Amino acid sequence: MKKLLIPSLSLVMSLLLTACNNNNDTNGVSQQMPSGDTSQQEQSSYDRELVEFPENYNKGVNYTTVHRGNVREELYTSQEAIEAVQNGQPFPDGTVITLEIYRDEELDEIFVMEKRTGWGDQTPEGTPRNGDWQYQEFNADRSLDYEEDIGRCFTCHANQERDEYINTLDEMKSYDLENFTGSKESSTESQITRIPTDHWVVKEDSQDNLLRDSLIENEEKAGIIQKVLLMIHYS
Ligand code: HEC
Repeated sequence: MKKLLIPSLSLVMSLLLTACNNNNDTNGVSQQMPSGDTSQQEQSSYDRELVEFPENYNKGVNYTTVHRGNVREELYTSQEAIEAVQNGQPFPDGTVITLEIYRDEELDEIFVMEKRTGWGDQTPEGTPRNGDWQYQEFNADRSLDYEEDIGRCFTCHANQERDEYINTLDEMKSYDLENFTGSKESSTESQITRIPTDHWVVKEDSQDNLLRDSLIENEEKAGIIQKVLLMIHYS
């Protein structure tokens, strides 16, 4: 009996391990990473506490959108940053640029770069220094993604040195700030159509609940109510 138990236990263990591996692979990142230990050692040399999650980033200027296959990226920064670029000045101290990455219309990752005086000195020795910019990657639920190798952000963005390490400087230059500061009505409307759905407090299933409870007898009315709730929530 004992003899049989041990092999079957190890079978269960290996099945469990396979399941975990599969899970990790779904984000597509772990495949490119070197095996666990070494990558963690390399990454720990970057100070991952510097750039915090920029709360309210999506109240800033959504200055451009990039489409690539099933990926959509929404780029945000402050009005002050856009104004500085348009006036030919360097990015102000404290500038934050946020890039939302949607895969198949679902928010997947949030990339952030932030510039603060002296932050250039915080990069590990022997690694590129991109002015005073630091980088950070967050998961869709806004938690920090420690698995991500921040070094690759520096390496690739270093190619844009003459544009202050920014790839979308032209888009910032040509952005019409009137769209942002313009009539309140239209900006509210465009904000609603762009909300990342996984942060909705009012979700589709609440509409279903209303329907199921026969509080509202038709879908159209439920739809209108949901819209109003969203407007209140985001105003
Ligand atoms: C292989 C090159 C590459 C790597 C690696 C890379 N980026 Fe970018 N990044 C770009 C490009 C190109 C854009 C412009 C938007 C686009 O075309 O997708 C961009 C745009 C951005 C922007 C908006 C500002 C800008 O430069 O236009 C932020 C913020 C950003 N990246 C953060 C990051 C972070 C954080 C990392 C690391 C987790 C990272 N990037 C890794 C190439 C890269």
